[in-house]
Amino acid sequence: MKILAIESSCDETAAAVVENGRRVLSSVVATQVEEHKLYGGVVPEIASRRHSEAIVGVVREALERAELTVDDLDAIGVTYAPGLIGALLVGVNFAKGLSLSANLPLIPVHHLRSHIASNYITNPELEPPFLCLVVSGGHTHIIEVTDYTKLRILGKTRDDAAGEAFDKAARAMGMPYPGGIAMDKLAETGNDKAFKLPRPTVDGAPLDFSFSGLKTAVINILHNAEQKGQTVNIADLSASYRKAVVDCLVRNFLHAADETGHKKLVIAGGVSANALLRRRLTEECKRTGRTLYMPDLSLTGDNAAMVGAQAYYEYLAGHTAGMKLNACAQRSI
Ligand code: KG4
Ligand code: ZN
Repeated sequence: MKILAIESSCDETAAAVVENGRRVLSSVVATQVEEHKLYGGVVPEIASRRHSEAIVGVVREALERAELTVDDLDAIGVTYAPGLIGALLVGVNFAKGLSLSANLPLIPVHHLRSHIASNYITNPELEPPFLCLVVSGGHTHIIEVTDYTKLRILGKTRDDAAGEAFDKAARAMGMPYPGGIAMDKLAETGNDKAFKLPRPTVDGAPLDFSFSGLKTAVINILHNAEQKGQTVNIADLSASYRKAVVDCLVRNFLHAADETGHKKLVIAGGVSANALLRRRLTEECKRTGRTLYMPDLSLTGDNAAMVGAQAYYEYLAGHTAGMKLNACAQRSI
């Protein structure tokens, strides 16, 4: 079954053709990041306009690279939630139009489910049940995946998402948006014991996260140094901060694994590209006899191949939509 998938939830316009949920025949991503960088973050109005301009070309290219036409497709999959509403609407309306004109089933896909599904592409042997840590710019969830379309949130952030925490702290340190990647690189060269930072917990909810206090601690360090006319070693601060965030992620994820007894651990989302998170979880899983699955680095950020992967399983579960499909800015998994 060949599915044309479309993703436009944030600042990437993407299209892909995926066969039977696992084999990527083509994947095209047009990023707007350079333009949003000028404003220090994603500007929703600009994102919607750029999606509208890019979507026809991106879909056409995905079909051309797969050497297919619309007639060869079996269904259309599209991200419908959560995300920037104006951005989502571009993908959803385009998918509805194509589904109607080509008489193809329309499959709505939840953005976080698609991030998880990036692992089905990279790890052909991976099947539910498993435990997944989804860490992106907008979400930080520990999710129990009992089946491809049966998912349960066990823990989540009470304030900032992990990606947001990286981006905000990186911005305070003077790095351009999105600072998570730059901070990860710089942290490799720094001393992670140089600054003492907290490892926040949430009272009575050991699987939930809280990152806003950690971010404030970094801002205070920078502010105090500035007032005293001192310079801060940004590589050391990056390394200390990255270690604190990753310590919290690993601590809660392993706690959830202990509680549920899952032996298959999976990570997904933009922050799953983080070098320290990958190293730490690899070590911990080796030490505790668990198997860790990670998406290929090319699939950690937003893309449509992962949407095509999840769309296949949604289709098998009978989750198709009609022309009444709407985009939702917020929707639980
Ligand atoms: O999943 P994603 O591409 O978009 C959302 O759905 O939000 O995640 C983007 C987030 C950004 O906050 C970005 O800074 C972060 O992922 N990110 C990283 C790394 N690569 C991307 N954070 C830490 N370390 C990285 N290597
Ligand atoms: Zn995402």
